[in-house]
Amino acid sequence: MNNVISNICCIGAGYVGGPTMAVIADRCPHIEVNVVDINKDRINLWNSSKLENLPIYEPGLDKIIKRRRNKNLFFSTDIEKQIAKADMIFISVNTPTKTKGIGAGKASNLKWIEASARQVSLFAKGHTIVVEKSTLPVRTAEVIKEILKSKEHSLKNKEESTTFEILSNPEFLSEGSAINDLENPDRVLIGGESHQAMDALSKVYKNWVPEEKILKTNIWSSELAKLTANAFLAQRVSSINSIGALCEATGADVREVAKAIGFDSRIGSKFLDAGPGFGGSCFKKDILNLVYLSEYFGLPEVASFWNSVVTLNTWHQHRISKLITKKLFGTLSGKKIVILGFAFKSNTNDTRESAAIQICKNLIEEGAYLLIHDPQVGYKQIEQDLNLRPFNKNKNKNYSEKNNEGYWEPIDTVETNFNSADAVLILTEWEEYKKINWKNVSKVMRKPSWLFDARSIIDPNKVRNTGLNFWRIGDGI
Ligand code: UDX
Ligand code: UDX
Repeated sequence: MNNVISNICCIGAGYVGGPTMAVIADRCPHIEVNVVDINKDRINLWNSSKLENLPIYEPGLDKIIKRRRNKNLFFSTDIEKQIAKADMIFISVNTPTKTKGIGAGKASNLKWIEASARQVSLFAKGHTIVVEKSTLPVRTAEVIKEILKSKEHSLKNKEESTTFEILSNPEFLSEGSAINDLENPDRVLIGGESHQAMDALSKVYKNWVPEEKILKTNIWSSELAKLTANAFLAQRVSSINSIGALCEATGADVREVAKAIGFDSRIGSKFLDAGPGFGGSCFKKDILNLVYLSEYFGLPEVASFWNSVVTLNTWHQHRISKLITKKLFGTLSGKKIVILGFAFKSNTNDTRESAAIQICKNLIEEGAYLLIHDPQVGYKQIEQDLNLRPFNKNKNKNYSEKNNEGYWEPIDTVETNFNSADAVLILTEWEEYKKINWKNVSKVMRKPSWLFDARSIIDPNKVRNTGLNFWRIGDGI
């Protein structure tokens, strides 16, 4: 069996599949990489001649696409043909939390994984290595294996022989720094049963990743390690946010506490930034998955331990909106609040599970009028997330300051939109917000005016003597 890979197909051209395959194509010019997706619009955007139209904003991605697209990196909806040509297939489709049925609200919905496995089983030819790239519940490989085995059996005794190997190769890329994470990974994890298949994938990565960083484990450890890594990271965010609340109550400063504990090499200094609560497509979903697995295997204490990480995160988001309401005299009716940032973190246009969604919904519910800015998130996405159409004063003949309660409006520029605002709330740590001149802003706001910094990106010295009331996360001083 030949373990040299020359043709890779990836099912799923999303936040994970797109950047991962772009970097593989870039680092392995001898491999043809085909990214396929059922979503034609998304594929058209990947093929767009204007690089600013790529469906994903990720620093450095456009340069790689420019270098490799239509050379050894191709995007298409031609799923059948590309599966048939490939000797390695990555499955990188989404696995959202189930909304109904058994495990609703916790377990992952594996319908797209199953659909992809069925497509592979139908169209693959020869020996094919199937790689789970999506984050999956432990033992999902078994499901994929069973679907693929049925094809092997059905072909028995026929001339054409199709065989499969399954690997788990979870992604650890963080949005906003995905290209760097892929080019310089802390580790690459490969779980599998067949050494030959693991070596084949390992050879692909060895084109740019040092061998000592490529870890090989059994397939279940690999699947569980991915869920555990995200659970530990999310747990750190909930831990520091819980301490931030305590800091505000006691007069401590969460930045000082984080620095002091981060110097302990056993704890480490990363991932200790208090914020508005973690978002992103993975943390909540993966923890809920872990909770579901623990319950399923009769470990309710383990389930409740991990569930508390999510509970704390939700509580924390509500805590911030309540705090704002309280500071603005207990009512937000018709008050104008400028929201800076809607993405779940900076350097991405992704809003999935963004803390901004819950916090903005709460403020709107209290009657506030929100002016929402984000340099990368379009208003249609915000509309979808808030499930509320924007209030357009230019088009609405009945517009008056009085009937905008509980609405929102998108804004393109920050500088000109603070007029008569009661408060500004920073929810995403975009660089451009660090450069705002608060003295000028304060002059045009309605008094008493507030600046709420839920990301801790503003230097308090730059707000002092500007006439603004200032609150920042975890600051009890
Ligand atoms: C991520 C990760 O892959 C995964 O680890 C995590 O569990 C959740 O989501 P991501 O790339 O962020 O996936 O998801 P998304 O941007 O939604 O992309 C998935 C793509 O798969 C979509 O473009 C969708 O159209 C495509 N898809 C889905 C298929 O091509 N075929 C299917 O059957 C289903
Ligand atoms: C995460 C994991 O980091 C990555 O390894 C995995 O493969 C996918 O999930 P991602 O969701 O892209 O990546 O972003 P991440 O940087 O982990 O941030 C997640 C959330 O936590 C963001 O909302 C971020 O703002 C928040 N966060 C992170 C904090 O509030 N404080 C921190 O110190 C770090």
